[in-house]
Amino acid sequence: MKIITEALELQEFTKNSNKTIGFVPTMGALHEGHISLIKRAKKENEIVIVSIFVNPTQFLKGEDLDKYPRKDEADKKICELAQVDVLFFPHAKEIYTDDEASVLAPKVRGYILEGATRPSHFNGVLTVVMKLLNIVTPTNAYFGKKDAQQLNLISLMAKQFFMRVNIVAVDTVRESDGLALSSRNVYLTHEQRKEALKISASLYLAGKMVSKNILDTKEIIKGMREMLEPLEISYVEILSRDFEKLWHVELGNTIILVEAKVGSTRLLDNIWL
Ligand code: PAJ
Repeated sequence: MKIITEALELQEFTKNSNKTIGFVPTMGALHEGHISLIKRAKKENEIVIVSIFVNPTQFLKGEDLDKYPRKDEADKKICELAQVDVLFFPHAKEIYTDDEASVLAPKVRGYILEGATRPSHFNGVLTVVMKLLNIVTPTNAYFGKKDAQQLNLISLMAKQFFMRVNIVAVDTVRESDGLALSSRNVYLTHEQRKEALKISASLYLAGKMVSKNILDTKEIIKGMREMLEPLEISYVEILSRDFEKLWHVELGNTIILVEAKVGSTRLLDNIWL
């Protein structure tokens, strides 16, 4: 596995390659969720490139940028074992300078859900993803459905900026008890981890209600909110795959999204129906 830290060197590498490139951008602290993206990329491309970059511009002041888990050596091992061809591991100075152009998230879809409590978060995500996609110029880029709003906004950006990349959505990987894998799960104490299970349980409850033909979104949200108690809920929403409000679940066009705080850790999860 080649480890590259400079953008120009990576651009040179990809420019000289006529093979299909699968790209998996990450912020490190790799877990089975990330690995499933890498495996999918391996299956569908001749070369796989993974980036690890804890992107400062997507963290708001007071968020966990400084304590975000960093496991550089373990991450390198994981990538090697997963037969990644190139690991891009840039320093912040390689990606950002002082006076920068940036991508702005759309005014509606970028400022609901995550964007409502974290204004400017998606500007940071879209800007870094644009930069990374321009450096790597992949055929396919892989993103998790776990971060459904991020995935939606990146797909919109790729389409609206006429980018030559295929954005691939990958299913959420969970622990056997249902908890969605996340680099932030390491913040949870044993007790908090148990509390966190209410999040996936509320989504399973929603799935069950839908299978009993309860399709009214208000009723489903009410049931989910009850199950989530006493967690501090940031949002429970039932939206279309285009992130528009739904009054009734439409099978094949619905995402149910939850964000709740467990201790001081904000956890996201969703199901696609
Ligand atoms: P990070 O949180 O490291 O996630 C990297 C990718 O892994 C994202 O596409 C995310 O949706 C996916 N992922 C995380 N948990 C997953 C799980 N349990 N199952 C499947 N996929 C999962 O998301 C980011 O980094 C950053 O915002 C980034 C896109 C790299 C831009 O900085």
